[in-house]
Amino acid sequence: MAALFYLPMNSSTAPKRPIGAFDSGVGGLSVLRALRAQLPTEDILYFADQAHVPYGPRGLNEVRGFSEAIARYLVAQGAKLIVIPCNTASAAALHSIRQLYPKLPIVGMEPAVKPAAEHTESGVVGVLATETTFEGELYASVVERFAQDVTVLQSACRGLVAEIEAGRANGPEARRILSEALEPMLAQGMDTVVLGCTHYPFAFDTIREIVGPQVRLVDPAPAIARRVQSLLAEGGLAAQGGAGRTRYVTSGDPATMQLRVRELLGEDAMVEGVSWLNGEVITADERG
Ligand code: DGL
Repeated sequence: MAALFYLPMNSSTAPKRPIGAFDSGVGGLSVLRALRAQLPTEDILYFADQAHVPYGPRGLNEVRGFSEAIARYLVAQGAKLIVIPCNTASAAALHSIRQLYPKLPIVGMEPAVKPAAEHTESGVVGVLATETTFEGELYASVVERFAQDVTVLQSACRGLVAEIEAGRANGPEARRILSEALEPMLAQGMDTVVLGCTHYPFAFDTIREIVGPQVRLVDPAPAIARRVQSLLAEGGLAAQGGAGRTRYVTSGDPATMQLRVRELLGEDAMVEGVSWLNGEVITADERG
């Protein structure tokens, strides 16, 4: 693994360096939106692992391998903080990435069961997340700590991430998957839905139509952005002025990612392509 771009952390250079963020694909863009609203002066390097999307059915070990390699790539690119806007990658690798980089601030995600359990009036909460997220210890621990007195219903919405990646977040197949997941939950009295996968906020309109106006939808993106902001401030890492830029990188097809960024964020962005080689992310230069 080349470390050509590694810049050692020190207080004079760190604020100019990017925040590194990664997801299996476009899901993390729902958090990127919140990050940019909260932190408009920060540069962000967003990595979409579209060679391997969806992560959900792959299991904790495989996703951990991808996530650790992407973290190495982001650190080599000079990331001053890593945010993982992906519940599945956080479930698989938040702990191990923190062990690999004990001095780097790292922000992960877990399904927002805590605020849901605090606010539910019916006592029935639905969680939409991936299979691998449900398998992880992070999820088991939030349910155990915060949802003892609440009924928690779960659905992995299999196939929904692929629909969203294909640009059909609110299409007929997405609607079918979501209806199948949500209608039985509604029948059991659910009044709060946790969007426990960062792809799912892009299907917000369909989810809202299915559950109606009374059900609360919990998206943790703004809370993640506030957490990133406070860690940057604590570490003296915040960028000082000027407009922040976002650099997009994908291990999949850059033209498709570019299209999705336009559809989902309304932005015309350049997207760079990278490849996987022997379990590591390599750039076009390294590929030769
Ligand atoms: N967006 C991701 C998450 O929050 C991953 C979805 C997937 O790739 O299956 O879980």
